[in-house]
Amino acid sequence: PLVTSKKMFEKAYEGGYAIGAFNVNNMEIIQGITEAAKEVNAPLILQVSAGARKYAKHTYLMKLIEAALIETDLPICVHLDHGDSFELCKACIDGGFTSVMIDGSHLPFEENIALTKKVVDYAHERGVVVEGELGRLAGIEDAVNVSEEEAFFTDPDQAAEFVERTGVDSLAVAIGTSHGAYKFKGEPKLRFDILEEIQKRLPGFPIVLHGASSVIPEFVEKINKYGGQMPGAKGVPEDMLRKAASMAVCKINIDSDLRLAMTATIREHFAKDPSNFDPRKYLGPAREAIKELVKHKLVNVLGCAGKA
Ligand code: G3H
Ligand code: 13P
Ligand code: ZN
Ligand code: NA
Repeated sequence: PLVTSKKMFEKAYEGGYAIGAFNVNNMEIIQGITEAAKEVNAPLILQVSAGARKYAKHTYLMKLIEAALIETDLPICVHLDHGDSFELCKACIDGGFTSVMIDGSHLPFEENIALTKKVVDYAHERGVVVEGELGRLAGIEDAVNVSEEEAFFTDPDQAAEFVERTGVDSLAVAIGTSHGAYKFKGEPKLRFDILEEIQKRLPGFPIVLHGASSVIPEFVEKINKYGGQMPGAKGVPEDMLRKAASMAVCKINIDSDLRLAMTATIREHFAKDPSNFDPRKYLGPAREAIKELVKHKLVNVLGCAGKA
């Protein structure tokens, strides 16, 4: 059934694991992810960004996810990723999403609170849950000095006040991850000390980790081998994700790894079978690669297999 993430997060917090939140924008991606979850009996969050919703259209995505619900019989939450306005959140709530993110992380604290609270009030009246964000994810490496870098991370005191005053159901935090395939120039480092402080201030409250792709070297190598150019791509080591999942982090966002699996598979196909022009012959293997990747994440990294 279509569900919110409320019970998923309660069980995940309790059990010391995390739910995988995977970005979707077409049929093969939805099938690959949901077939993997079905095989290992994992609860799922499928998330749609503003860009994905514009690309595939709201109704197509909802209907594809409805098909996946029928095929898998799993608890699946449909979530808006990085909602940037009340209007977008409202459209998704009215259109059947069970969860929305309002990302006011770029706004001054008081404005972030006001916008988030407005979305929470609308969502909660309709049985929909809300994820807020505090702290700046992107551009850690753009910081010119240590104190500026520190200011990008989530402030634990502010996190507690933010949750209290907005009534959000979960909170995305900045502890050193970033979006995309180039997360670290040097050694990967996450601020688990900050996560611990947040956890202390907000006992039992579910935390969300964005930018959590591990940028699996096998896929990057394949992309580079078959004509791609992704030198220096680097993600979050899976051991760090396991550690986060064992703590207050209950939702781990993965998009880039799906893109890499799909692109690597299709590049290999085109290089090895240049005469083929049947899309099923490369979208099929791409779907299979996504399925294997997601199974690996659910079973070996997030710890949510068998928890549906
Ligand atoms: O947070 C970013 C997600 O990977 C979605 O990316 O806006 O290109 O769909 P997108
Ligand atoms: P990645 O780019 O690391 O996959 O992060 C995805 C994400 O946070 C979506 O909100
Ligand atoms: Zn994100
Ligand atoms: Na956890």
